[in-house]
Amino acid sequence: MEYTQLTAAELESTKAALDKEFEELKAKNLKLNMARGVLSNDQLDLTMEMLGNLRDKSDCISEAGTDCRNYGLVDGIPEAKRIFAELLCTTPDNIIVGGNSSLNLMYDTIARNMIFGVEEEGSTPWAQQGKIKFLCPSPGYDRHFAICERMGIEMITVDMLDDGPDMDTVEKLVSEDPSIKGIWCVPKYSNPTGVVYSKETIVRMSALKPAAKDFRVFWDDAYIIHSLYDKAAYQIEILDEVKKYGNDNMVYIFTSTSKISFPGSGIAVIASSKHNIDKIKSHMSVQTIGHDKLNQMRHIKYFGSLEGIIKHMERHAAIIAPKFQLVDEVLTRELEGLGIAKWTKPTGGYFISLDVYPGTAKKVYEMMCELGVNLTPAGATFPYRKDPRDQNLRIAPTFPPLDELRQASEALCLCTKRAAVEKLLNA
Ligand SMILES: Cc1ncc(COP(=O)(O)O)c(C=O)c1O
Repeated sequence: MEYTQLTAAELESTKAALDKEFEELKAKNLKLNMARGVLSNDQLDLTMEMLGNLRDKSDCISEAGTDCRNYGLVDGIPEAKRIFAELLCTTPDNIIVGGNSSLNLMYDTIARNMIFGVEEEGSTPWAQQGKIKFLCPSPGYDRHFAICERMGIEMITVDMLDDGPDMDTVEKLVSEDPSIKGIWCVPKYSNPTGVVYSKETIVRMSALKPAAKDFRVFWDDAYIIHSLYDKAAYQIEILDEVKKYGNDNMVYIFTSTSKISFPGSGIAVIASSKHNIDKIKSHMSVQTIGHDKLNQMRHIKYFGSLEGIIKHMERHAAIIAPKFQLVDEVLTRELEGLGIAKWTKPTGGYFISLDVYPGTAKKVYEMMCELGVNLTPAGATFPYRKDPRDQNLRIAPTFPPLDELRQASEALCLCTKRAAVEKLLNA
């Protein structure tokens, strides 16, 4: 029965039972973690062989003839550019293979635009234009928001719907306000909702008519190939789509192998129009003599081709899909029909997004801490860590082993129910 239909007496007795359960669980001194959106040990072990695959000099010579043990090729070795171009359905001219982190490329891209302006000739640096703003579809990725906060960029929260950001709001704001310079997008298996942007959303994003001539879409395709099940979500290519509307230079795409090979030791990529890539390359060649080409070589030798990467991702999915299913099973068993929570059922990516009873997410987080279960803090999925409805929590199922994940999920359900009952009793 839905909690909102319970009488005060029924709520009191439910609370008493939940309190008892809570105290019993607390006495077990749990030490669990469902906060870390990282690879499990089993996943990390999949790629160990990669570390030993540069054995002699011949393994280090790129097809361009460059010795990867030495300086050179600031935009990456050609064979890496080719595979990433294929992954992103573009050409190697539209790609720079960077260092070990796409977030680093995003930060640098914003910093570059703050200091030098966007890639158009005569563009005024963002930092010289007074207050500038970014649209932040939320729930979203906390580290995107942290970059804006650190750079002094005002963040405007936009609702994330089932098929992507609320495009009515995005179109309106972007077309009216020239101080809005960017929008964060995680178009496939979004963090944390798992949302896959629909074709209509991508078309509307491509066709934006920004009031700011130096507006940019930050298209963070971190989970581009991270399907949990056989049928991967298909999306149209935004770099092609923007050309139809004369917005050729409006989009930067980012991706990396962080959740394909080794987080923090993978390879990252930025893609954009050739015009933008040439400009970015010219700045980058002052910033660095080149990125880690030996690591690029290791990846190329290990995966061989895009096909190789796709096959490899099936091995990741075999390890993590059962974890997503387990969390869903526990949430369904414990919370369905109570009218106090809803959660996403992602078909890819790294997270499940749980909306608890409005006004209780912080409380649920505190209760989880009390039980010894580490959860991403409530509010983290919104700009300035302020969830206007105080209801969203991000669940990261990939790291813990199944038995720990089950205990953590059960604890989460208990806290969700307990916080909702308390809220209803105090209403
Ligand atoms: C949406 C999104 N973008 C970027 C990253 C980080 O990527 P990288 O390791 O390439 O910096 C993450 C990691 O969780 C993420 O969820």
